[in-house]
Amino acid sequence: MDIAVLGGTGNLGYGLAARMAAAGHRVFIGSRDAQRAQAAAAALNELTSTQNLIGRTNARAIEQAEIVIVAVPAAAQAETLKAVAAAVGQRVVVDATVSLNPKDVTSTLPPEEGSCALRARALLPEGSRVVAAFHTLSGKLLADLSKEVSADALVCGDHADAKGTVSVLCESMGMKAIDVGPLSRSSTLEQLTAMIIGLNKRYRRAHVGVHFTGL
Ligand SMILES: NC(=O)c1ccc[n+]([C@@H]2O[C@H](COP(=O)([O-])OP(=O)(O)OC[C@H]3O[C@@H](n4cnc5c(N)ncnc54)[C@H](OP(=O)(O)O)[C@@H]3O)[C@@H](O)[C@H]2O)c1
Repeated sequence: MDIAVLGGTGNLGYGLAARMAAAGHRVFIGSRDAQRAQAAAAALNELTSTQNLIGRTNARAIEQAEIVIVAVPAAAQAETLKAVAAAVGQRVVVDATVSLNPKDVTSTLPPEEGSCALRARALLPEGSRVVAAFHTLSGKLLADLSKEVSADALVCGDHADAKGTVSVLCESMGMKAIDVGPLSRSSTLEQLTAMIIGLNKRYRRAHVGVHFTGL
């Protein structure tokens, strides 16, 4: 698959890009700054021993992508999406943004739409295929290719085909993909991120993840 990661220079985006490129996907690292994107892509090509990564500005990163992952701080989500909204078309947009409470990152401060993914849908043209995923994964763990990611990948959205595409992507990266419901479920995923940050602090861990049993 051809995938753009907006904010691919950051913790989560970098880790996702590493796993995706290692799985054989072509990844366009997006940044506000083309040189920063190129530097991240070069480092990731070395890390993954591939030439699967290309660095571009966010707007240019989506040009050849079929999937667009949004991995920027919540405060930067609207600005980032507005810069690409007109060009998104039928691409699948995967929002991983979490509206953490800046005063207490073990809780969230949801936007008025209810979650960042719901806000993403509101910011994009009507009919855009928005999926929420990757909220409960650790960027640092994803970037450490010597380690297996045993956590489940929780995916939600209102477009079954788009959710299916993202699930196939997650499985190609070595994770079990779980369809956790409609896009409105993204508020739960964001709260899980905050809960995981709290668990990492309480149990002095770095990479707590979610794994469902009984499925
Ligand atoms: N880190 C994780 O493990 C993790 C896990 C689950 C969910 N999340 C969520 O995923 C999103 C990204 O997290 P992260 O930890 O990867 O964030 P981060 O490293 O702080 O930022 C990611 C990238 O966003 C870009 N960005 C765009 N506009 C920005 C602005 N106004 N201010 C600062 N940076 C801006 C920056 O790229 P350029 O400067 O190159 O444009 C930056 O490298 C967040 O919403 C977070 O809550 C993160």
